[in-house]
Amino acid sequence: MSQVSYISKQVADLKPSGIRRFFDLAAQMEDVISLGVGEPDFVTPWNVIEQSFHSLEQGYTSYTENAGMMELRKEISKYLIGNYHLTYDPSDQLIVSVGASQAIDLALRAVIDPGDEVIIVEPSFVAYVPTVRLAGGIPVTIQTEAEDEFKLKPEQIEEAITPKTKAIILCNPNNPTGTLLLQEELEQLATVIKKHDLLVLSDEIYAELTYDDAYTSFPSIPNMKERTILISGFSKAFAMTGWRLGYAAGPTEIIAAMVKIHQYTMMCAPTMAQHAALEAMKNGRQSVQSMFESYKQRRNFIVSSLNEIGLQCPNPGGAFYAFPSIKATGLTSAEFAEQLLQEEQVAVVPGSVFGANGEGYIRCSYATSLKQLDEALNRMKRFVQKRM
Ligand SMILES: Cc1ncc(COP(=O)(O)O)c(C=O)c1O
Repeated sequence: MSQVSYISKQVADLKPSGIRRFFDLAAQMEDVISLGVGEPDFVTPWNVIEQSFHSLEQGYTSYTENAGMMELRKEISKYLIGNYHLTYDPSDQLIVSVGASQAIDLALRAVIDPGDEVIIVEPSFVAYVPTVRLAGGIPVTIQTEAEDEFKLKPEQIEEAITPKTKAIILCNPNNPTGTLLLQEELEQLATVIKKHDLLVLSDEIYAELTYDDAYTSFPSIPNMKERTILISGFSKAFAMTGWRLGYAAGPTEIIAAMVKIHQYTMMCAPTMAQHAALEAMKNGRQSVQSMFESYKQRRNFIVSSLNEIGLQCPNPGGAFYAFPSIKATGLTSAEFAEQLLQEEQVAVVPGSVFGANGEGYIRCSYATSLKQLDEALNRMKRFVQKRM
């Protein structure tokens, strides 16, 4: 029997991440500037790193509580009250996870029965469709339009709803478009969500990185907290991708169901990383602020430069991605990304990997230095001029 035939159909049918393919290609080349990765170029703030050493020195090398260290959950709870006026009981409404990634997986597995439909807003973060499938659910995608700044409209939810629809995943600010949904827009979505009794997975991992307008956390909209699982973590704003630390906050019964899965499949998030996250919550605000200032400066630079070279790009309200149109070049997004990498050694991600409506766009991460961005834009200008 071939080894392949042992693989479950569910997994065999999953496509490998389109982002990884470009990383692998770029890794084999020299002098590549990568605007491909979705992670900060900053090293984790030193006080956070140091605190993890201290935790080891003090012998904190065992498991923690399944739901995460109580002290950390209390700090997260304080942070959610302070930032968004959201009150979650740290004893049973919060779980510390292995990155926001695991929180998404846990949330879906906790609520999805086979055949349940989950609405996903495209262009979307690449993990949503596969994790819904792995949980036994059916992803139903909605295509947002560039003309609407890739903003989801309430009538689009209405159109996607069937008797099997159970949940919707919202990502605000969005990866890959950087689109930020404002309070009033979220309120309009909430009306439809309530009408159809949907559960919401609100992925707010980029919430700290919003540049122009005030941020509204989805569960803070009236009547939404009891139907929302808030997902966030330390990877992006705190520059802690490698620590694998995230969390979810939500209704007691749902968090209990997530903890049940987590205790059998993961036990707990890494102890050393939990100590680091505690320090980040207590004493990390200043570092977050200075990284934020830097992202904002880079955003302004990349957006104006892209527009100058003829790649139309609206101003993204959050995250650290620009999502310019490459339609004027006549290339598909995959052709654009491949040729740009081969000819000019600049790595970007084709928009098509984020869903059907991503075609005609590329994702450029600006989580890289201004100097690198400047050089990347010079190379892109040369590339684009040959084609327009
Ligand atoms: C929208 C979104 N959610 C979740 C994640 C995963 O974050 P973590 O590193 O905390 O697992 C990412 C990472 O790129 C992301 O872009």
